[in-house]
Amino acid sequence: MPEGDTLGLTREHELIIQPRKGGPIDWSAFDESQFTEAQLAPARELWKHRAFTEFHSLTHFTQLASQLHALGAPLDWSGAFARMISDEVRHAELCTRMTEALGGPADLDLELDGVHLSVQGPLRAHVRRTIVSAFCIGETLSGRMFKRCLAAANVPLARDVVTAILVDETFHSELGWELAALLMREDDTLEKERTALENELPQLFEDFATQCLATRGPKWARSQPEVDEGPNFGGLSDAGYARAFYDGMEEDVVPGLEAIGFSRARETWNRFVASRPD
Ligand SMILES: [Fe+2]
Ligand SMILES: [Fe+2]
Repeated sequence: MPEGDTLGLTREHELIIQPRKGGPIDWSAFDESQFTEAQLAPARELWKHRAFTEFHSLTHFTQLASQLHALGAPLDWSGAFARMISDEVRHAELCTRMTEALGGPADLDLELDGVHLSVQGPLRAHVRRTIVSAFCIGETLSGRMFKRCLAAANVPLARDVVTAILVDETFHSELGWELAALLMREDDTLEKERTALENELPQLFEDFATQCLATRGPKWARSQPEVDEGPNFGGLSDAGYARAFYDGMEEDVVPGLEAIGFSRARETWNRFVASRPD
C-alpha cells in the first residue's frame, strides 16, 4: 500500500493482520458464486460468531496486559501480551473479512456491549482466575477446535484463514499454561484463591461446554459425524465441536489443571461428565 494514500493507522493495521506464517491471504481467489445461498448462509453465521469471540479475546487480553503491568509483572510478560493482542486483532479482522467474503456486510454489528470484565475482589485473584479460564481452558479448547476445523475445511480460502488463526492459538494455549504455572507460585494468598477458583470449576466446565455445544455426553459426541456434508468453510457439526471439547478437556485441560495445583480437577471433571445425558 503506497505511503501517502492511506492513513498510518491503516498501514500499520494491514501489517499486523498478515498471517505469521505463509503468504498473505488471497481474498480475490474466492468466488462466492460457486456456492448456493443455502451453503453460504450458515458459513456466514459461523464466521460472524467467530468474529465476536475474537473481539472477546482481544478485549480480555488487552485488559489483562494492563492488569499484569499494574501487578508489576516483568517486561517479558508485556512483550508476550503485545504479541497476543496483535494476534487477536488479526483474528478479529480475518473473521470479519471472511464474513464479508461470504456475502455479509462490511461493518458487522457484533453487539460487544458488556464484554469488558469487571474486577471483583483483589486484582491478583482476578488475574489468576482470568488466566486459568481464558487461557488454560479457553485458548486450549480453541486450539483443539481449530485443528479439527482445518482438517475439515475443503474450501481453499477457509483453509488459509483457519491456518493463520491456528498458528497463533496453539502458541496462546502453550503460553497460557506457562503463565498460569508462574502465577500459581506460592504466596500468602495463593491457597485461598486457588480454593475459590477450584470451587468455580464446575461452573466453568458448564460454561465452556455450552459454548462448545456439548449438550450431551462424550459417548454421543464421539459416535456422530464430525462434519456436515458439502463444501466445508472451516466448521464442524454440533457433535464435532462437542467432541473437540471432550478431547481437549480430557487430554489437555484436566491434566494441566492438576499439574498447576488443582488437585480436585479430575474428580470435578468426572462428576461433570457423569451429569451429561448420553
Ligand atoms: Fe483468537
Ligand atoms: Fe487466542
